[in-house]
Amino acid sequence: MEIDRKALVREAFLAGKKAYAPYSGFQVGAALLTGDGSVYGGCNIENASYGACNCAERTAFFRAVFEGKREFSAIAIVGKAADAAEYDYCPPCGICRQVMAEFCDPDSFEIILARSETDYRSYRLGELLPLGFTGSSMEDKN
Ligand code: THU
Repeated sequence: MEIDRKALVREAFLAGKKAYAPYSGFQVGAALLTGDGSVYGGCNIENASYGACNCAERTAFFRAVFEGKREFSAIAIVGKAADAAEYDYCPPCGICRQVMAEFCDPDSFEIILARSETDYRSYRLGELLPLGFTGSSMEDKN
């Protein structure tokens, strides 16, 4: 299925408006495209106990998985400080890359980092998480 990157980035910007980020002031939005063409938005959700903060990407994944989705094609991510005038590329954190690796093909899943609907960079999961640890890492290969 052809990915409408511009539309996915637009959804990520909308999702970012829902960020709950009173501690960092850094607002992140993500839009996750499933294999069957649906889109799940996510925002970061912070907590006074900082370790309980959840990133936008994981919010999107957990929403989608709860809805029964298991196939994913791409995720668009946007982020900026609340008082910043413009967005800059916001790469996913290591924990979010690991969550992506649980569900997504490293060679095909696309991660789109956007500054605007027309200014974005696209990566494959395997580029951002080379030699990732997955379920198959625990299989007996002998
Ligand atoms: N954050 C995300 O939501 N996604 C990322 O890819 C990077 C970081 C959030 C977590 C926290 O709420 C804030 O940005 C600052 O780290």
